[in-house]
Amino acid sequence: MRLADDEKAMLDGAEGPAVAAAMDLLVRYGEALDCERLCDVRNVAGTMTQPSPAKARLVEEGGWHKAYAVINLDCDDDIEIPDMRVPTCQLQQGFGPDAEGVVPYPKEMIQLQSDAESFYGRRGVNILATCTPYQVGNIPVRGEHCAWMESSAVVYANSVLGARTNCEGTASTGAASLTGKVPCWGNHHAENRYGTHLIDVRVPVADPMDWGMLGYFAGGLVQDQRPVVVGDLSRPDLLELKHFGAAAASSGGVEMYHIPGITPEAPAVADAFGPHPVPAAVPYGPAERRGVYDDLNSQGAGTDVDFVLLGCPHASLDQIRQAARSLDGRRLADGTQLWMMVPRSLKAVADRSGYTEIIERSGARVLGDSCPAMSRAAPAGTRVFATDSAKQAHYLPAILGIEAWFGSMDDCIDAALTGRWRGELP
Ligand code: F3S
Repeated sequence: MRLADDEKAMLDGAEGPAVAAAMDLLVRYGEALDCERLCDVRNVAGTMTQPSPAKARLVEEGGWHKAYAVINLDCDDDIEIPDMRVPTCQLQQGFGPDAEGVVPYPKEMIQLQSDAESFYGRRGVNILATCTPYQVGNIPVRGEHCAWMESSAVVYANSVLGARTNCEGTASTGAASLTGKVPCWGNHHAENRYGTHLIDVRVPVADPMDWGMLGYFAGGLVQDQRPVVVGDLSRPDLLELKHFGAAAASSGGVEMYHIPGITPEAPAVADAFGPHPVPAAVPYGPAERRGVYDDLNSQGAGTDVDFVLLGCPHASLDQIRQAARSLDGRRLADGTQLWMMVPRSLKAVADRSGYTEIIERSGARVLGDSCPAMSRAAPAGTRVFATDSAKQAHYLPAILGIEAWFGSMDDCIDAALTGRWRGELP
């Protein structure tokens, strides 16, 4: 790999041992990919504060410097971690203090995470604590090179914002934060961003549930390639694009898609494929839609619902408001819990707007920072859960060994109020 002068200097220790370790990691990573060079990044979304028993042991041994060295830099040396060199944010993490007494999640992990927030916050990590940094102030511009983790955020950054990022990991984002560099491969290059498959939508797709199902279909079809979606589509909003991308990144490994007229690089279908011919279209019609719905509900058997999960990816203000409207003046069924996962900074707005109070008066909870899949935690005794997220329906049954129902937000709130699943494909 060719290194620029500033990169060589960092590698040789001119900026201290932590930056040298970070550069060493990036060089190893780049060489493993046959990557020719690094690119400059000024926007890193990674994970420093997420607690774990392994992290607790490292902190006990050598403090937070040690934990960062081992987990975020793959380095066993005793080094001091300096300030982040470029703007860096923390993605979703474990549950926080607002979950105490609600979520069966170890108190020690909540405390460990609070300590981590203090340590890394002082070093310049913005504790956004959400899988949707683009909802709370981290909005890269078109063409901006970034180093982001979290598949649902990466696909949004590439496809909706036109930024350029691969799906990075804990160590590569840790190293990028201290150097402002990341290997320049994959989605950083225009030639790797063109569409590979054309999907022709022949059934109306006009609400978040349908956008989620279409995303799930697209990911299953193209796996880690790049779908271009045309046809009977409403103009999607942030919520619908959030559901579409998260689902496509779950059933497949989609990091980039094109919706002509939405994706900045694709004003028209031909732009999405660039120099390549437009391939034959794969239809998405009523039969395919029904197939996706049945697939997402294949893990549901019992209709008594113990737990309802909304807000995956973390909810927008519109979703919080919609939930408040639906729950206003009503009570959840005995024995059924509803959690809505949100970015904590949006919860502050929901609190001020009165939405949180309405939701929590019904018995539901608005929680920040994490989610059941990320923290492997659901209400004690949950056997059957319901969600409006294709991503959570895809992952949670395998993670927690529980049954899942997938449907609209209205279906899910009905399940929370009645304790029964009555959702059907409209
Ligand atoms: Fe976010 Fe958890 Fe879903 S981290 S995207 S709410 S699986």
